[in-house]
Amino acid sequence: MALPRTLPSPVVSARRVPPPARVRPAPPFPRSINIQLTSRCNLRCIMCNHDRLTAPRGDMPFEMAARLLDEIADQPGDSISLQNMGESFLHPRLVELIAHAVERGIQVRMVTNGTLVDEETARGLIASGLQRIAFSVEAYTRERYEQIRRGARFETVVQNIRTLHRLRDEAGSPMQIELHWERYQEDEQFVKEYARFWRPWCDVITVAPLTRLDGIQYVGRDGRVVPVPPPPTPAPRPCRFPFGFAVIKHNGDVCPCCVVSDHQIVLGNVKDRTLSEVWNDEPYRRLREAAGRGDFRDWPACAACTLMRQ
Ligand SMILES: C[S@@+](CC[C@H](N)C(=O)[O-])C[C@H]1O[C@@H](n2cnc3c(N)ncnc32)[C@H](O)[C@@H]1O
Ligand code: SF4
Ligand code: SF4
Repeated sequence: MALPRTLPSPVVSARRVPPPARVRPAPPFPRSINIQLTSRCNLRCIMCNHDRLTAPRGDMPFEMAARLLDEIADQPGDSISLQNMGESFLHPRLVELIAHAVERGIQVRMVTNGTLVDEETARGLIASGLQRIAFSVEAYTRERYEQIRRGARFETVVQNIRTLHRLRDEAGSPMQIELHWERYQEDEQFVKEYARFWRPWCDVITVAPLTRLDGIQYVGRDGRVVPVPPPPTPAPRPCRFPFGFAVIKHNGDVCPCCVVSDHQIVLGNVKDRTLSEVWNDEPYRRLREAAGRGDFRDWPACAACTLMRQ
């Protein structure tokens, strides 16, 4: 979805859907990794399919997460995100794990709904050395925000973000604070108002296109809930996710992307193996072969994937 050129600074567009991949060898280790520290969530956002997931809910054991981070620290890569389909701030040892990662030289980006980042947690985050935190917030008014983020209070999130921003500045911490939202039908006026409201409390605003996941709905410009339209092109395209990205679920399952968020494609498990072993093993290689060609006859979840048709 093209964004207007007139987006007020510092709004930037985060391109979520990668362009078609060419077949090329994968690096020996994923460049970018999401670790699902918990699959539990405290909200029921209208665009998210979290409440439709059937996989059992749970938290990643501290030892498994720490071992993964140690392995990641020894490998080249871009950054990691300690979240995936869940609210990581529900994990009882999240701040400890962030500190563990940062100490080992890993670039960490947290993505959160912000409801649980209270003052004490904010101080812990600053002390942990976390480099970047993105708050997922789709609105600048209480009514619209609470319509989308069901179960959240707008005032709480506003206060949490402002407090973190203030404490960050007082501490002279280099942590980047990002406001992030998935754009659907919002017009330029909305984007301007959004930026005007949030600009004082963040360093950057990122906007990504809303991903079409089956059955999701969203709030249109006029406040009505509307279905997301079907993807414009019928045929799947090659997919680059298996060439550089991995999601590690809370139980150790390794999945190729966030689309198969219900463990539909599991390429291995890191309970008893390293991520490197799983990444270089046969199931991943087979998926790469199919993904490079865009031929998903043996991969029904990919054949049904709408992300690659947007
Ligand atoms: C699944 S959430 C997990 C982290 C945290 N619970 C949160 O809301 O930020 C990660 C990101 O996915 C976004 N998201 C949810 N549903 C989406 C959809 N249908 N398409 C694209 N992004 C979506 C959220 O807004 C959030 O920025
Ligand atoms: S978007 Fe985040 S907070 Fe909202 S339901 Fe999904 S996982 Fe939970
Ligand atoms: S489901 Fe398959 S085609 Fe879709 S993003 Fe994931 S790996 Fe790529």
